[in-house]
Amino acid sequence: MNIMILGGGGREHSLAWAVMQNPKCDRLIVAPGNAGIAAIAECAALDIEDGTAVAQFAVDNAIDFVIVGPEAPLAAGVADDLRAAGVLCFGPSADAAHLESSKSFTKQICDAAGAPTAAWARFTELDPARAYIREQGAPIVIKADGLAAGKGVIVAMTEDEALAAVDDMFGGAFGGAGAEVVIEEFMSGEEASFFVLCDGVTALPVGTAQDHKRIGEGDTGPNTGGMGAYSPAPILTDALAELAMDTIIRPTLAEMVARGTPYQGVLYAGLMIENGIPRLVEYNVRFGDPECQALMLRLGAQSLDLMHACAEGRLADMQVHWADDHAISVVMASAGYPGDYTKGSVIRGLDGLTEDSHQMTFHAGTAQADGQIVANGGRVLNVTARGTTLREARDRAYRLVDSIDWPEGVFRRDIGWRALAPDTASN
Ligand code: AMP
Ligand code: GLY
Repeated sequence: MNIMILGGGGREHSLAWAVMQNPKCDRLIVAPGNAGIAAIAECAALDIEDGTAVAQFAVDNAIDFVIVGPEAPLAAGVADDLRAAGVLCFGPSADAAHLESSKSFTKQICDAAGAPTAAWARFTELDPARAYIREQGAPIVIKADGLAAGKGVIVAMTEDEALAAVDDMFGGAFGGAGAEVVIEEFMSGEEASFFVLCDGVTALPVGTAQDHKRIGEGDTGPNTGGMGAYSPAPILTDALAELAMDTIIRPTLAEMVARGTPYQGVLYAGLMIENGIPRLVEYNVRFGDPECQALMLRLGAQSLDLMHACAEGRLADMQVHWADDHAISVVMASAGYPGDYTKGSVIRGLDGLTEDSHQMTFHAGTAQADGQIVANGGRVLNVTARGTTLREARDRAYRLVDSIDWPEGVFRRDIGWRALAPDTASN
């Protein structure tokens, strides 16, 4: 099979690595890729949000199967363009991708499906939004309706913070994404990520994870795209996962079918769990990053078979084969991230690292310059390891981190702390 992956981050490096483990892969092209991906696959410079160009490229290169990594091409309809050109694709249509690209769409689907989520209201004007905040009080959550690169959510602990957030959003701080604002009830509890493959009809859970969104140890400081993740998420027990499938995932998928926009691809449900009840925080229409890196190390070659069966509508015949294992991914970022940072610092020590089915250093934002690997983004490396316990995986990952020579890099030492706390059983 000739395969193309769209994207160029750590998520796509881990997808490429897993696909390459599978003998069914004859040729792999990743667009645009990065310096780490270039070491295992062909990279192609391509505007991955231009569906016409992507479909033409796929046809010209006899690509049999395309896996879409990030949400932006999906929201732009790239999966639709590929299918229209007769190319098999893993990833939802633009209509189905509204589950990530519009917060109010997702809330409407939840209401229609009876899926538990935070109470909400939608506003297109400032004054009614301010009045609603005064009426509801704090804490309260303010969300720009559209895609805002993970930055459009403000969890306001005070009314003043909430009022300032709507002022900013209607003032254009998030561009078009903030022209509509969703205001939600604040949910307390513990968050976990649940990944389910859906072929339109059948839904197959492929794993759970928890990520650390804050830059600082102890989950403090500004939000980032994610500074680390581990899988499985101990809080999401089999019973809770089944409850989430029954009350949230399957009703959502049925509602999408009823609307004539069945969902095909991976559905990433962000859940808030309190008192044994999961509620939906949000959907994403792609794998999480860095959650995917931990998941791919655990799933390995079978992930290609699963994604391929998903795209062909054959999930009812598939099973996920789990080892009883744990994986963790530690993000190394450029100092200054998620604020301003400089690019171009040299990363040494990568060549000597052992890379196998237990430990992989996935590249998120790297480039080659004068024969050296240099930092080329905010999140730069995803040091990922697997073990029979989370502790073993964690120790292996940090041994790798410590052998990377990159003085300008920063990372958190405490990825997985919640699951590794002394009072948490079985780790
Ligand atoms: P989202 O982009 O919707 O996932 O929101 C980003 C983060 O904001 C989530 O991962 C939660 O930590 C937090 N969050 C979003 N909505 C709520 C809510 N209704 N209650 C509490 N926290 C929330
Ligand atoms: N790690 C969070 C996300 O991918 O959205």
